[in-house]
Amino acid sequence: MSDNIKTREFSISDYDAALELWQRVEGLEIAEGDDREGVSHFLARNPGLSRVATDGAAIVGVALCGHDGRRGYIYHLAVDPAYQTRGLGRRLMDECLAGLRRAGLKRALILVARDNPRGRKFWRRHGWEEVPGPIVMGIDL
Ligand SMILES: CC(C)(COP(=O)(O)OP(=O)(O)OC[C@H]1O[C@@H](n2cnc3c(N)ncnc32)[C@H](O)[C@@H]1OP(=O)(O)O)[C@@H](O)C(=O)NCCC(=O)NCCS
Repeated sequence: MSDNIKTREFSISDYDAALELWQRVEGLEIAEGDDREGVSHFLARNPGLSRVATDGAAIVGVALCGHDGRRGYIYHLAVDPAYQTRGLGRRLMDECLAGLRRAGLKRALILVARDNPRGRKFWRRHGWEEVPGPIVMGIDL
């Protein structure tokens, strides 16, 4: 691993490497909208907000970020296990939040699996609070 880790905007050409990383880490579920077409659509709707971290040609971190005009959302934050616990997850999260602030958003939400204690700890440590009360509901279209 080099110390030359950079971050930049997520481009659709990063999709294959991002999917491979999402499949490799624990705590993420690949769902509807995560195919190439879905991610491409998401990136086009939310230009400049999603991020990747690179070490040379390798994608070592990913975060999808977007908003609906009212709330910001971060999805699928993942860091290659070999690169974890060095602040890269935080760096990607901070860059996503900075982009949402620039877009005028005042609040962001994330969905964290109940059985992902490490993920929950990460978000809590960085100031996110669990929202008591609401349950998440969904429907396939
Ligand atoms: C959650 C995840 C993205 C965090 O990535 P990361 O790069 O390890 O994140 P950070 O390094 O910024 O922070 C992780 C921990 O390392 C610690 N850390 C950060 N920099 C450090 C350093 N230089 N030295 C030692 N520890 C450090 C942080 O304090 C943090 O501690 P905590 O877990 O007790 O809160 C990563 O664990 C991951 O990909 N998990 C699997 C996918 C997942 O669950 N994603 C979230 C879905 S909601």
